[in-house]
Amino acid sequence: MNDGDESARAAAGRRQFGPLGTALVIIPTYNEAENIKSIVDRVRAAVPEAHVLVADDNSPDGTGELADEIAAGDDHVHVLHRKGKEGLGAAYLAGFRWGIERGYGVLIEMDADGSHQPEELPRLLTALKGADLVLGSRWVPGGRVVNWPRSREFLSRGGSTYSRMLLGVPIRDVTGGYRAFRRETLEGLGLREVASQGYCFQVDLARRAVKAGYHVVEVPITFVEREHGDSKMSRDIVVEALWRVTAWGVEERVGRLLGRKRA
Ligand code: GDD
Ligand code: MN
Repeated sequence: MNDGDESARAAAGRRQFGPLGTALVIIPTYNEAENIKSIVDRVRAAVPEAHVLVADDNSPDGTGELADEIAAGDDHVHVLHRKGKEGLGAAYLAGFRWGIERGYGVLIEMDADGSHQPEELPRLLTALKGADLVLGSRWVPGGRVVNWPRSREFLSRGGSTYSRMLLGVPIRDVTGGYRAFRRETLEGLGLREVASQGYCFQVDLARRAVKAGYHVVEVPITFVEREHGDSKMSRDIVVEALWRVTAWGVEERVGRLLGRKRA
């Protein structure tokens, strides 16, 4: 929620939030062999009580096997092997299901490449004590990006602005992928109907959370561009995001119009 949304904050202030259960940090991976060891070590050091689930799409570079080796020596680390590259959204949906089935109380999204600093996770978890969903945000005061090319910053800011205006969600960083959900929030989002495959998955979940009336809080983060490996951002991912966000916007406007006529 942005700073102006005082009524939402007042409503949240009256609400009671239950205690946080055990956290599961879900890390989707596709060709992250150079990053996997370091990110898991950093998560384990920053939040020792949390568990980690690596959701690997059968990476050709052996990320899955490296994750297995780490898991063999640490009972807080788990690996979900998927058969092939099906996109970030599908990997997260499988990871959420895995965690919910096993009774985790908090499910966290984190990139494998170090862009989402595990050392900032305690701040996200503190905010989740008084929220249904916490978004790590680059575009609120105090948030920033390090080493991102101008073109990526433009795309990300533009994508957030377009989504915010078209969908009416009062969130500054709606495409970000560093998030902490209470399990009850995920259970209330209708995940079975989520079809988003690429990075628009993040917009999809954010708009569902706002529509469902959940208390969503943005916490500033410093997003650090990866040093090793390559981004999986592609033209297809941008095209999927553009058409889906546009379709959601049109759907909502038509729905509202029809609703008004009936009333
Ligand atoms: N399992 C799986 N399958 N993992 C994937 C896939 C996939 O198809 N595609 C990407 N990933 C993993 C990567 O291995 C990495 O851990 C994480 O998802 C993010 O991918 P990057 O390729 O590093 O994303 P980015 O840095 O370009 O994009 C960042 O910004 C986007 C827009 O704001 C991320 O923070 C995204 O989450 C965010 O939506
Ligand atoms: Mn990245």
